[in-house]
Amino acid sequence: MPGLISQEFIDDLRNRVDIIEVIRDFVALKKQGQNYVGLCPFHAEKTPSFVVSPHKQIFHCFGCGKGGNVYTFLMERNGLTFPDAVTSLAHRCGIPIPQDGLSPEKAKQNSLREKFYHINELTADFFQKMLLHEAKGKEARHYLKRRGLVEQTCEKFLLGFAPNAWDELSCFLLKKGVLAEDLITLGLAVQGQQGRLIDRFRNRLIFPIMNFNSKIIGFGGRVLDDALPKYLNSPETPLFNKGRQLYGINLARGLIRNKDQAILMEGYLDVITAHQYGVTQAVATLGTALTEEQGKLLMRYTYNAVICFDADVAGQEATKRGLEILQQLGLNVSVMTIPEGKDPDEFLRKQGAEHFYKVLTQAYPLFEYNLLKLMEKYNQDTIAGKIQIIQELVPDLYRVQSPVNRQGYIQMLAERLSFPEKAIYAEIRNFQAERVKSRDGSGAEGQPREKEAVTAGEKAQRVLIRLVLEKPEIIRAVEEFGGKELFSDKLYQEIYRINYLLRQAGHNIKAEDLITHLENEEARRVLTEILLTEGFLQDGERIFRDCLITLGIELVNRIIEEKNVLMTQYEKNGDVTQSLKIMAEMQGMIKERQRLGSILTKGGNILEEGK
Ligand code: CTP
Ligand code: MN
Repeated sequence: MPGLISQEFIDDLRNRVDIIEVIRDFVALKKQGQNYVGLCPFHAEKTPSFVVSPHKQIFHCFGCGKGGNVYTFLMERNGLTFPDAVTSLAHRCGIPIPQDGLSPEKAKQNSLREKFYHINELTADFFQKMLLHEAKGKEARHYLKRRGLVEQTCEKFLLGFAPNAWDELSCFLLKKGVLAEDLITLGLAVQGQQGRLIDRFRNRLIFPIMNFNSKIIGFGGRVLDDALPKYLNSPETPLFNKGRQLYGINLARGLIRNKDQAILMEGYLDVITAHQYGVTQAVATLGTALTEEQGKLLMRYTYNAVICFDADVAGQEATKRGLEILQQLGLNVSVMTIPEGKDPDEFLRKQGAEHFYKVLTQAYPLFEYNLLKLMEKYNQDTIAGKIQIIQELVPDLYRVQSPVNRQGYIQMLAERLSFPEKAIYAEIRNFQAERVKSRDGSGAEGQPREKEAVTAGEKAQRVLIRLVLEKPEIIRAVEEFGGKELFSDKLYQEIYRINYLLRQAGHNIKAEDLITHLENEEARRVLTEILLTEGFLQDGERIFRDCLITLGIELVNRIIEEKNVLMTQYEKNGDVTQSLKIMAEMQGMIKERQRLGSILTKGGNILEEGK
């Protein structure tokens, strides 16, 4: 538990946020019945087993077992301590934390980040004013106009202009009280000879780069003519890492979620034009090969990515690798080809959004796109050409996870090349055999651990926990039957114990609130899993009875076992009196076991059915 933030604030904050909204910033969620499901952010998977319950405000992954509430999620996902998770959530909601609630170190870090954001904001303001109102910005204004961008669009993207001067921005910021070292850290200026500051961005159109939360993390700057380099971007800074960002994500994420599709473009101007034309599910990769981080960022909002790169680029090696990375993360990747080799920006301006959407519907799934490219490259009328094509596609086919999809692709390949399917399968098998041979046998990575079959005893423990949490009035009966001793599994025992203690202390806590009180991570996993396993609570009375008896028998067995050990000990020591006493007790236990057993067999044990 955090020492400095009050429990009251922690509970209050948790009740004010919706876990669905928070998790959606990291995972694309789809509604399924009462819950939401998505791909687990904690282990690699292709089919969603990550469940979030809006009613209980908890999550649980049925693949890897992780689970908890909104705080646990932020802790695990972002590697935060509990106080940091609370702080970041409060931050997100714009709710101030009572200041003494922050550790001094954390408060410093926070204020450092805030300070940097603030400097970037001042900078963007400075550039924007230049562009919109100053005489110096005239040429840039004309440039944007020539490129068809209206003022509203420029404002939406906070576009600006860096004047053609050595240190105008630096002087402006220094006057505002910004330290020279911070300017350098943020990559806004470099230290010239004689310690003089020189602005990084000079005589360039400025594109502030924002994170998903609309915080300005860096800048891109374009020349107004054909000078080189065409673009200059912020260097790596504490706020900016190019490979982790998607330009426009803050403006696009809403529609990406609604359309369940993102369009990936390459350039700043492609995205800006797209948004002006209403294609606001477009984001840009900032011209680099796609990274895993970018894929994951995208997957917070959708699993469907359409690649809309300049005509020749999508076929290039670096790009292909990027697309494979996306696919391996579980995204559905398709490629749309803009006719006549135009880039999206030019195409939209010349043909309009309607035409663009028409082309979008003709996007090819990545595999098919690759096939078409290869068919252009090799002569598919010759056997050698066909074999070449197949061999280049086999690694792709091998990676396709869904057997249905794979079968479909193989069929398509066989048809397009008029080549027997069997031969293609044989190629895949060869490829597979080669891979297995060359692997060091380290086994599959990122696979969820295999679930063992649940025994009646384990099931009874889970159900009983669930019942106790939902019907506190039964706790008394459970106590009479043995209380926490009924649980052979230490994790269930812990959950039961904490719940019992809190109830004894007069806390009327809800089942899902118990999560916060469990220090043991494993116990939290078990609890969230139990809470999300729906549908076994019909006929509650009978289930309750069966749980108590099943666990009662197991408890009796454990006691008999202990007594047996004890008895042997006494016999060995020649203590006949004690050993006879224990034996009598054991006989009593065995009778009890028989009694319990007969109750179960009479009614049949509901826990054994269909397990
Ligand atoms: N890029 C970059 N540095 C460069 C060139 C390109 O960072 N020297 C990035 C920019 O993010 C740019 C993207 O790659 O937006 C795509 O580059 P390009 O197609 O050359 O530029 P466009 O954005 O299309 O710009 P324009 O239409 O004005 O040529
Ligand atoms: Mn362009």
